[in-house]
Amino acid sequence: MSDLFETKNQQKKQQQQDDEINGSHKPIISEEELSDTDVLIELKKIKEELKDQVVVLGHHYQQDDVIRFADITGDSLQLAKEAANLDRPYIIFCGVHFMAETTDMLTKSHQKVILPDLRAGCSMADMAKRSEIDKAWAFMQKSTEAKIIPVTYINCAATLKAFVGDNDGSICTSSNAEKIIRWALTQGEKLLFFPDQHLGRNTCFKMGIPISDMVVYNPNMLNGGLTSEQIDNAKVILWYGFCSVHQGFTLDQVHATKKRDPEITVIVHPECNFEVTQAADDYGSTSYIIDQIAKAPAGAKFAIGTEINLVNRLAREFPDKKIMSLSPYQCLCTTMYRVRPRWLLASFRAIKDNKPINIITVPEDIARSSLKALNRMLDIK
Ligand code: 13P
Ligand code: SF4
Repeated sequence: MSDLFETKNQQKKQQQQDDEINGSHKPIISEEELSDTDVLIELKKIKEELKDQVVVLGHHYQQDDVIRFADITGDSLQLAKEAANLDRPYIIFCGVHFMAETTDMLTKSHQKVILPDLRAGCSMADMAKRSEIDKAWAFMQKSTEAKIIPVTYINCAATLKAFVGDNDGSICTSSNAEKIIRWALTQGEKLLFFPDQHLGRNTCFKMGIPISDMVVYNPNMLNGGLTSEQIDNAKVILWYGFCSVHQGFTLDQVHATKKRDPEITVIVHPECNFEVTQAADDYGSTSYIIDQIAKAPAGAKFAIGTEINLVNRLAREFPDKKIMSLSPYQCLCTTMYRVRPRWLLASFRAIKDNKPINIITVPEDIARSSLKALNRMLDIK
C-alpha cells in the first residue's frame, strides 16, 4: 500500500471522527446529492462563472482538492500581504479562522471574507484568551518596572491582536518572527510572546538569548506559575501555548531518521519543540521550508517536520528529490482539513444565490486596534 493511499485513509478516518464529534454539523451538500467527483466538476464550473466576483486564497496546509481551486496560495504572511491588494467583492479563505479574521481586517469594507467551514479553527490560537492575557498583563505590570513589549504570533484571535495594538506591540508570523522580536527588544526591555512558546523560544534562542533568560507563563496556574521576581529577572516571557500538530514531532524521530540515512536533511517548522529544532539540520517557516526544497539539487533528500498535506504535495511537485515526513504518523492539521471541497462549493453557491454564508467579520473597535499591530508588523523593516 502506498504512503499516499495510507494518508488518504487516515485522513478519511480522522474526518469521520471529526464529523462524529460534531454530529450536529451536517454537510450542506450531502454525499447523496453530489459525489466527491461531482463536487469537483461543479466547483470548476461555478468558479469560472463567478471569476469576476470571487478570489480564493489557500494556505499551504490545505488538502490538494481545495488547493487546486485557490487563485493564490501561500503561508500566513504571504496571504496576509496578498489580502491587502485584493479587489474582488468576495474572498473565500481556505485556511483557519484567525487567518480569515486577519484577511477581513486587511481588506476593504465592501469586501466579504468567507470561511467555508466555521469549525476550521486553530487549537493553538485557542490557548490564549483575551481575559487571560489581561490578567497576565496586570500581574506582569505589578511585578516589574521594566517596559514589556507584547508580540503575538498571527495565530490568535483578533481580540489578542487588538491587545498588542493597544500596548505598543506587534504581530509576527513564523516568517518574520526574528525581525519583529528584534524590533520589540529595541522598544522595551522585556518581551511577552504568545501564544506559541516554541516559536518564541526557538526564535529568541537563535538570536542569542539564553534559555535561562526565558520563563513560561502558564495561564492555567495562579500568576502563571511564576513569582514577581521571576518576571522581573526574565528577558522573555513565553506563553504556555503550542501547536499539537508540530509538537507531535520528536527528538527520537530526528535520531532514527538520521541513523537510517545520515545523508538526509531534517528540516522542521519553528512550532516544533526546542529539542527537535536543535537536533534538526535546519528549521524555518512554511515558505522557508518550501524554498529550501525548491532550490536543492536533484537527488537531495529531506525529512520534513510540518503538516502532512504540504509534505505530500512537495513530494509530488519535486519527484527528482526524496521527500518524506519526519514522523511515521501522519501529522495532519485536522482543523485545516475541515475545509473540504463540498464546503467550498456551498460557499460559491451561496454567493451565486446572493445569500453569502460563513462571513467572517471583526467588530470595528477590535479591528481598529488590531490594525495598528498588523500595520506595524507590515512596516517593520
Ligand atoms: P505559517 O506562518 O508558516 O504559514 O504557519 C501557519 C501555521 O498555522 C503553522 O502551523
Ligand atoms: Fe493551528 Fe497548528 Fe493547525 Fe497551524 S498546524 S493552524 S498552528 S493547529
